[in-house]
Formats: sequence, structure tokens, C-alpha cells
Amino acid sequence: MIVITGGAGFIGSNFVHHWLSERDEPLLVFDALTYAGNLENLASVASDPRFSFIRGDITDRDAVERMLGQARPRALVHFAAESHVDRSIRGPQAFLKTNVEGTFVLLEAVRSYRAQCEPRGRGTFRFLQVSTDEVYGTLGPSDPPFTETTPFAPNSPYAASKAASDLWARAYAQTYGLPVLISHCSNNYGPYQFPEKLIPLMIHHALENRPLPLYGDGSQIRDWLHVADHCRALVEILERGRVGETYNVGGRNELTNREVVDTVCRLLDRLRPRPRGSHADGIVEVPDRPGHDRRYAINTTKIERELGWMPRETFASGIEKTLAWYLGHPDWVRNVTTGAYREWLDLHYGTDRSERPAPA
Ligand code: NAD
Ligand code: TYD
Repeated sequence: MIVITGGAGFIGSNFVHHWLSERDEPLLVFDALTYAGNLENLASVASDPRFSFIRGDITDRDAVERMLGQARPRALVHFAAESHVDRSIRGPQAFLKTNVEGTFVLLEAVRSYRAQCEPRGRGTFRFLQVSTDEVYGTLGPSDPPFTETTPFAPNSPYAASKAASDLWARAYAQTYGLPVLISHCSNNYGPYQFPEKLIPLMIHHALENRPLPLYGDGSQIRDWLHVADHCRALVEILERGRVGETYNVGGRNELTNREVVDTVCRLLDRLRPRPRGSHADGIVEVPDRPGHDRRYAINTTKIERELGWMPRETFASGIEKTLAWYLGHPDWVRNVTTGAYREWLDLHYGTDRSERPAPA
């Protein structure tokens, strides 16, 4: 079987669904169920005999070792993390703890687990570290996209914590021969994404007729990757990637934040029109994120050439599917917006800005 850390979160749960739709091999999700972890994301596979779940924290060495001893996996895909840049700016310590120390604990536990494996199992084991393009820092408008050899230059506490964990993983590969693979992907979107991130936040706010807060002038650029394309890439990297290598995964969809929000509004105008005006009337420019990276872009030549992977979704096709999913799952959207999430909205955007009804 394989182990998925952070499998109750956004990308992890999409990966679980993708895996179980294609394979017979069982998997075990190990997840602490923080505010971002949601068992509802896994409800449809909960009674599948190939699926099991352990609630546990990756910073807890005993719990990780017990889990590995019980599951005896042939591979581990490591998603568990604190993942939101704005939260890392307000409270960086949790990012150091989970992303750096948690990854360290996993690497140590896997090292000793492998030492106890039969030589055959030891040889085939794989540790896939799921990382981000944000470790590479920011690009100017005409800079070439990030490649696997672009130097790390993280600008947020989140990006620094992911870069640190990648370097620990690399060091374990070099020093102890741990069979590590690392992937760096761009911004994901799709089903089950917690509504603190740009796209689900805008959908959720538009449906509730609340303002749509665009940071600064909205001209920052991200490369949007549909989560289903990302999950396919991760399976390819896990199964056919070269151990010790890094692979960048991007969607070939560079867009400004304003373009993304305008697209969401245009689609909602068709699917869920407001009584008067456009959803775009709700867009408000709010103070910029400190240290806000201007542009991310990914060069996907390596994964295309070595593993034959290409994204299948354009932004136009992926965002239609994504909106259809959120509109088709009002209970999920309602349940995910718990008291804790509302507290975050108040703290981060301020009640006066965020909770005020959008101009009619
Ligand atoms: P997410 O915040 O939606 O989910 C994170 C999951 O990890 C949650 O289920 C949470 O409960 C779990 N978790 C957090 N701390 C834990 C701990 N100490 N022990 C065990 N479990 C813990 O994140 P996501 O968007 O699904 O991202 C998954 C991974 O992909 C992360 O490593 C993130 O850095 C990386 N990534 C995400 C994106 C993106 O666009 N979402 C882009 C690039 C890279
Ligand atoms: P986000 O989804 O937080 O991902 P990341 O910071 O990892 O790229 O943000 C995507 C972009 O959208 C980023 O440039 C910040 C911007 N943004 C807003 O303009 N308003 C918002 O309310 C949020 C959450 C993000």
C-alpha cells in the first residue's frame, strides 16, 4: 500500500480519489485534521476496503513510526503542510513546526522504517515530497519560467518553510540514500479547496454577495494548474520518475489575479446571476500582501520529455468544471465555512471590509 500524509486536505483528497479510481492498491491517509483537513472530502471513499485513515500529526515521531509499522507501505506521498501564505505572514511558527519539523520527523521515521525492510522493499521504496513553485521566489514580466535548476529564493514564511523541507529531503537522499523525489507545482484549483485560497474564496464570497477582495492592483500573475492534472503528474513522478530528481509541474495558464476573478464573475453571471449588475461589481481592491510575489511561471519541459505528462485542462475548461462542482456541492461549501474560518475572515480582511454587502 501507499501512505498519503495530508490526504484530507485539498490536493491530498483529490489524489486519493484519483488513485482509487484507477488502481486496486490500497492507501492509508495520515492527517492531523487541522482547520484545512476535512473528512467530508473523503466521505465517498470512507467505506472502500482499499481506504484507511489514521488521525495523526507528522511532528509526532511515535505516531508516525506506529503508522509506518502498521501500514508497511511501499511509498509515501507527503502533502501534509500548513499551506496558506497569508496565514504564514500572521503566524509563521506553525509553518516552521509542521512544514520543517514535520518533514524532518517523516524523513527520520522513513529512514529507520526502511532500515528494517527486506532488501527488496528497501530498494523499491519511494518518498515523494510535494512542494511548490513559491520556493523559487518571484519573476519579472519577461523572465523565463522556473526550471528545476532555478535557485531557491523564497519570499514568504510559507515558501521558506517549504524550501527548507525540500532541502532536508534532498540532504536525506544525498547522505542516507533515501529514495526521494521532489515535485514543485504551481497554483492548484479544483474541487475540495478550502475557501481561504483565491478561487474558492471568490466563488464563496460572490455567492454570498460579499465583496471580492483583490490584493493591490490585481496584476500579480500565477500559473493555474487544475488539481486533476496535478494528481496525474504526481502518479507519473511516483511510479516512473527518477529517484533523486526534481520535477516542475505547471498548467501553462499564466493569468493575472484580476483576469482570474473576472472569469469567475463572468461565469457566475451566467450560472448564478445577481438580481442586478454583475458579480464583478463586488470586486474591491484591498491593501496588498506584504512581500507579495509578482509572478510565478513554470517550465514543464522536463516532466513532458521524461514522463510524457501534459496538462489536459485549459483554464477555460478547468474553471467551468470547478464552478460546476462548487455550485453542485452547496452542503460541502456550507459545512466548510465553520466558525474558525469566519474568525480568519474577520482577522485578515476586517469585518468592515469583508462582511459588508457588495455594492448592488
Ligand atoms: P491544504 O491546506 O488544503 O491541506 C493540508 C492538509 O495537511 C490538511 O488535511 C491538514 O489537516 C494536513 N496537516 C496539516 N498539518 C498537519 C500535521 N502536522 N500532521 C498531519 N497532517 C497535517 O493543502 P493543499 O493545498 O492540499 O496542499 C498540499 C500540499 O501541496 C502542501 O504541501 C502544499 O505546500 C503543496 N502545494 C499546494 C499548492 C496549492 O495550490 N494548493 C501549490 C503548490 C504546492
Ligand atoms: P492564494 O490562493 O493565497 O495562493 P498563493 O498566495 O499561494 O499564490 O493567492 C493567489 C493570488 O491571489 C495571490 O497573488 C494573492 C491573491 N489573492 C487576492 O488577491 N485576494 C485574496 O483574497 C486572496 C486569498 C489571494
